[in-house]
Amino acid sequence: MIFDTHSHYDDGQFSEDRDTLLASMQEQGVGTIVNVSATVESCRESVELAEKYPFVYAAVGIHPNHTGDLTEEDFAGIQKLYQEKKVVAVGEIGLDYYWDDVPHEVQKKWFIRQLETAREQKLPVIIHSRDAAADTLYIMQTYAKGLEGVIHCFSYSPEVAKEYVKMGFYIGVGGVVTFKNGKKLKETVARIPLESIVLETDCPYMAPEPFRGKRNQSGYLKYVAEEIARIREITPEEVIAQTEENARRLYQL
Ligand code: NI
Repeated sequence: MIFDTHSHYDDGQFSEDRDTLLASMQEQGVGTIVNVSATVESCRESVELAEKYPFVYAAVGIHPNHTGDLTEEDFAGIQKLYQEKKVVAVGEIGLDYYWDDVPHEVQKKWFIRQLETAREQKLPVIIHSRDAAADTLYIMQTYAKGLEGVIHCFSYSPEVAKEYVKMGFYIGVGGVVTFKNGKKLKETVARIPLESIVLETDCPYMAPEPFRGKRNQSGYLKYVAEEIARIREITPEEVIAQTEENARRLYQL
């Protein structure tokens, strides 16, 4: 079944129908979902969602855009959440120079601190990296040796993807692969092993065609699987089965 490795069901866009929507996942062919945190508050909400739904797991971590006002006290508070049984990763963490809300040095500091957390907790990492290819690769090669994880919403070149695959990392592929202007990602999907690809929605964002611009949800990953299948000349069922196996290995489930 479909494994959504990256979602944000704590988002306000799901307030009206969260329960109904999550209850429909089985019949939409979705077997497992990881809810990924971005803020201190969403770390707690992710853990609560995982407690409530047997097929939902949580990732705990602070998104680079939210590190600007992160305090040591907040950080110490979220460390406790790693003791929760259904927390399967540290994320999302990384660098975002696109929005540029937070000074680069502050982003780097918390990125490195959270890589250390992953090492202490023996958990994989979920990496967010936008317009920061060189700094991310440098920090990963310096501080993430021996760690496992996924480069989420991969937006760089196939060459950069291969560097991460060499380090044993997975490449997260979502709605962008279905876009007409998603050429670079299509090329990446064609050139890395299927064993290194995992499916992700990043919902409520990044809905694939034919829902581009609308609210995304895990059931739409079938369109992502269809596009990957078309590119690689295999069946969508093969894509779903292999990426599920990959995701289980990634999150040790
Ligand atoms: Ni995300």
